[in-house]
Amino acid sequence: MQIAIDGPASAGKSTIAKLVATKLGYIYCDTGAMYRTVTLMALRNGIDVHDAAAITARLPQLRIDFKPTATGQQVLMNGEDVSLAIRQEDVTNNASAVAAIPAVRADLTQRQRDIAAAGNIVMDGRDIGTTVLPHAELKVFMVASVAERARRRFLDNQAKGIDVPVSVLEEEIAARDHKDSTRATSPLKQAEDAVRIDTTHMSIDAVVAEILRLHDERLGQKAGEQSGSP
Ligand code: CDP
Ligand code: CDP
Repeated sequence: MQIAIDGPASAGKSTIAKLVATKLGYIYCDTGAMYRTVTLMALRNGIDVHDAAAITARLPQLRIDFKPTATGQQVLMNGEDVSLAIRQEDVTNNASAVAAIPAVRADLTQRQRDIAAAGNIVMDGRDIGTTVLPHAELKVFMVASVAERARRRFLDNQAKGIDVPVSVLEEEIAARDHKDSTRATSPLKQAEDAVRIDTTHMSIDAVVAEILRLHDERLGQKAGEQSGSP
């Protein structure tokens, strides 16, 4: 069983995907963390985030691993825990440029498919239902208003002691939405067979419950198909 969760920044994808995976005992794969890790690698090495050739040349030496912990999972870059480093503002604001490089997308898409091949999975990102796992049994396209997403990011930042005004966050989120939706390779867009969930006025628990309901429904359909009944 594969669950693909796509949508724009701060719609709630990773929070909800993690909870759904825990409830179901499925693997969780945060594909945004992988694009962020490539971005961090470029920034640390002084590589221009638009320099496709230089970034692509480094990919064979870049190992990205997810390590489960008691509270979630760590992201490891060549063995180093970069879970916090990849959430910094400079990485956030440069990730869309790196994610627009076709060779980076091809490389990470293959890694994501390899992870999904290991078993039942919940994967979140921008192109999971359209490109990475086009045959996922359940596809969710999660959205929320720009104002609500900026408010959520503001609260997340405050908890981390970072002070960026909501108005700046709104601009950053809108700019990232635009870049992610207009790039040539695998742009952010809803898969035709995805269920759209607007989380603007929904609690985290309500969204998780809705996805679990959809999952059970799909599982029932799958069982029916396999047993040959309509
Ligand atoms: O957490 P947030 O929504 O801010 O971002 P993320 O999911 O961590 O993704 C960071 C960036 O990676 C996004 O702005 C996209 O440009 C890119 N990304 C992508 O292009 N495709 C994916 N499957 C996942 C992320
Ligand atoms: O992964 P993505 O960027 O889509 O969003 P996230 O990092 O999972 O969620 C951003 C923030 O919104 C987190 O602090 C969540 O706790 C919060 N959130 C919320 O308040 N209500 C929801 N229905 C979903 C997420």
